[in-house]
Amino acid sequence: MIGAAAAAVIGVAATFCGAAPALAQDEVRVASPDGRNEVTVAIEGGRVTYALRRDGRPVIQPSRLGFELRGAPGLGDAVRIADTSAGSVDETWTQPWGEAREVRDHHNELRVSLEEDAAPGRRFVVVFRVFDDGVGFRYELPEQPGLGDFEIADELTEFALADDARAWWIPAFQQNRYEYLYRSSPVSTLDTVHTPLTLEFRDGLHVAIHEADLVDYAGLTLVGGREQNRTLRAYLAPWADGVKVRGRTPFRTPWRTIQVADDAAGLAPSVLGLNLNPPSVLEDAGWIQPMKYVGIWWGMHIGTMTWGSGPTHGATTENTRRYIDFAAENGFGGVLVEGWNTGWDGDWYGNGDVFSFTEPYADYDLPALAAYARERGVGLIGHHETAMGIENYERQLEGAFDLFETHGIHAVKTGYVGDRTPEGHAHHGQYMVRHWRKVIETAAAHRVMVNVHEPIHDTGERRTYPNMMTREGARGQEYNAWAGDGGNPPEHETILFFTRMLAGPFDFTPGVFDLLLEDADGPPRTPEQPRPRTTLAKQLALYVVLYSPLHMASDLPENYQDHPALQFIRDVPVDWEETRVLDGRIGDHVVVARRERGGDEWFVGAITDEEARTLEVPLDFLPAGRGYVAEVYADGAGAHWRDAPTSFEISERTVDADTRLTIVLAPGGGQAIRIRPASP
Ligand code: NOJ
Repeated sequence: MIGAAAAAVIGVAATFCGAAPALAQDEVRVASPDGRNEVTVAIEGGRVTYALRRDGRPVIQPSRLGFELRGAPGLGDAVRIADTSAGSVDETWTQPWGEAREVRDHHNELRVSLEEDAAPGRRFVVVFRVFDDGVGFRYELPEQPGLGDFEIADELTEFALADDARAWWIPAFQQNRYEYLYRSSPVSTLDTVHTPLTLEFRDGLHVAIHEADLVDYAGLTLVGGREQNRTLRAYLAPWADGVKVRGRTPFRTPWRTIQVADDAAGLAPSVLGLNLNPPSVLEDAGWIQPMKYVGIWWGMHIGTMTWGSGPTHGATTENTRRYIDFAAENGFGGVLVEGWNTGWDGDWYGNGDVFSFTEPYADYDLPALAAYARERGVGLIGHHETAMGIENYERQLEGAFDLFETHGIHAVKTGYVGDRTPEGHAHHGQYMVRHWRKVIETAAAHRVMVNVHEPIHDTGERRTYPNMMTREGARGQEYNAWAGDGGNPPEHETILFFTRMLAGPFDFTPGVFDLLLEDADGPPRTPEQPRPRTTLAKQLALYVVLYSPLHMASDLPENYQDHPALQFIRDVPVDWEETRVLDGRIGDHVVVARRERGGDEWFVGAITDEEARTLEVPLDFLPAGRGYVAEVYADGAGAHWRDAPTSFEISERTVDADTRLTIVLAPGGGQAIRIRPASP
């Protein structure tokens, strides 16, 4: 639904008049539908820049656009605005699954065509889409005589922040990819950081910079602050030879996105990136089913099972049957089995060219287990750890997914431990972006849902390929099993919600009940040793706070057996009608309410950092005049992540839209609430 939106686009400095150079304007603007966000594109000294204001106040000062090319002059330095066109869209689309069923795409678009002053007069277009919650812009390089095959040496896009805002960041180009603890410091101190990068302006404005619709391009990181200024610049992950992107016109880049919100709670959940991705290309998505799952997994991380063969091999037929039985008895949809395929023996980090993706270990009867799972109404979840041996994996890709399809396995977890390919391509450069797209497409063709570990950051692929379910891309629960620094600190998830989660679903793998790791190898762990630094109620609350359409109950079945808190994990949905962020501050606390898809039940998750907190939460999101029962899973007497993480209590009370809940959270604590209608 593109329509003329002349009112939203204002040309200044000269009247716009087609492509006539003498009359070309040198500044154009486009505003969001609510008029609060306004982008200005200008030519300054021949150079094209853009700027963003909100309510008239600068957010991004005039910032450079363009490219350095290898073997050709750069683009963007000596140009004029040759043409513009505008449009607007207001439409609502339905997600097959997600944090909300309906998504409104409401924006004004401005296409700015730029042409070099001098011969050969190369042309490119910058397209801006301005929404009430932010801006996306991308480059288009049309087919033309002066620009065919090209190599991008650097993308010059800048984000000149109007404030030395507090940035919540993780470092880029480190060995563990996106798996670092977030730190916060002024923009002017940043080196090279990942996106989404969340920024708290001193006047309370919240901004997040990221990208959307990343296809056949290199992943975005941001470089900044080295010169003590507030300008961040795009820095793309390279091929082994240093080239950032190889392409041929016609070509278009991913969108660069700038989300803006009046406060932290306004940032999430974000649909800006989804709106900038193309609609689904899958004709039949009925086989794609969000689910909760269990798996042969935590045992390897706490050291009681192995991926490789031997006496403690986790993926045995017998052990897998036990997990299938537990899943069937408790309503889990899937059983992940890691270490089922040959190649894990020895130091598997280096086995990238050894893994087989079709040959099970001798003690794992894949066909029998797949059939047994099916009989019990459960699905096996396959596992492909590549250790970055991409060529080895791609050689086997078809066969691997054929095998799954043959045995009715509709989900896979993939893994990419390592920071580059053996050939030296960056973990999230163009080579890998192509690879991941190929895996998503191959999986879709074989009706398999994908959960990527050590992924590239999420740029909204799930809209186009709804089988791209969830991914890692941050420090998850596994760090609590073995991290040298003792595991994720209590504030971790209160930061993730406003940073990593803005990109999309996260397979965090919550649900550890044995919080002292009494079942791990060795004696129960001290607070200084790695172990989850949360209370049990917080483990439950994470199912609501951290969205994932595939959510794991990560602990061992024996730790769930007969445990009353398991009921919450059984009840909590993984697909939602709507989501509301009720309260939150980055690094302190978050309260989220979500309504189950197609039903009347609400679930609330509240989490805190290392501070105990009492929060007042009005339930005015409930429909007025209807009675509900709240089943409350709370931190118990004396609960504390350090000394008493398993102290919890379950209570019930009647509530309605006028109720104000008082939520009491222990240090490192949380609360999980199911709110069901009192009468059906
Ligand atoms: C790292 C993943 O995050 C983890 O979940 C998996 O168990 C191991 N790699 C082995 O693939």
